[in-house]
Amino acid sequence: MKTKNSYEQKLMRDSGLITAKALKAALKAIKPGVTGLEVDRIVEKEIYKNGGDLSYKTVPGYKYATCITVNEGVVHGIPTDRKFVDGDLVSVDLAVMYKGWHTDCAWSILIGKCPEKVKFLQTGEKTLWAGISKAVAGNRIGDISSAIQETVEEAGCSVVRSLAGHGVGRSLHEAPEIPGFGLKGQGAILESGMTLAIEVIFTAGSSEIAIGSDGWTYYTVDRSLGGLFEMTVLVGKGKAEVLTDWRKA
Ligand code: MF3
Ligand code: CO
Repeated sequence: MKTKNSYEQKLMRDSGLITAKALKAALKAIKPGVTGLEVDRIVEKEIYKNGGDLSYKTVPGYKYATCITVNEGVVHGIPTDRKFVDGDLVSVDLAVMYKGWHTDCAWSILIGKCPEKVKFLQTGEKTLWAGISKAVAGNRIGDISSAIQETVEEAGCSVVRSLAGHGVGRSLHEAPEIPGFGLKGQGAILESGMTLAIEVIFTAGSSEIAIGSDGWTYYTVDRSLGGLFEMTVLVGKGKAEVLTDWRKA
């Protein structure tokens, strides 16, 4: 688990800003009648406009800028030509490579009004910030994992156990693995200068997921809602710096 020096941290910040801008553009574009493929094109353009490259190109066999999942979709959704409709819960996951440095993020939003999905989304976002708040030097991976698990389960939702957050930097996926469940005080110690993609991958029902017929998209087995919130953060003393905050991009 490598730490990034200050020069590398600067490049990770620059990469994170491009990622944040791309996520912001995606969330703005998601509306009824728009397709996932259209959102993917918008993201790709935004990334290139800002001098970035598509991190997902480094994943063998994957050809898109984003992964987009809807409702019972959980992760790794291939963007399709299905038009979004009112009441859809849409998750966008995207990553950027800038001068060889990767940053990764995801967000879920609701189209139109669907009161029973609002609490689910609020749980995911609350959980993401709870996890991030533990990403400080001297803490352990298990502190992040247990904060995620507690916040999700407190709301009656489930953490997907077969997928995890991860270190990020020179590659999209680096050590350590950051599960969304675990025990406080366990696992590797966090050091200043580590960059982590903290992911909340959760469902409204059972935590079991299965891959769909396209060979990529994971769905909940019980067809309950799936949600995804992810930010790349830089571990610091006493605080984590969020590198992909689309709200500040
Ligand atoms: N962004 C995903 C993650 O958080 C990885 C997607 S890989 C892809 O780890 F091939 F599906 F794009
Ligand atoms: Co990730």
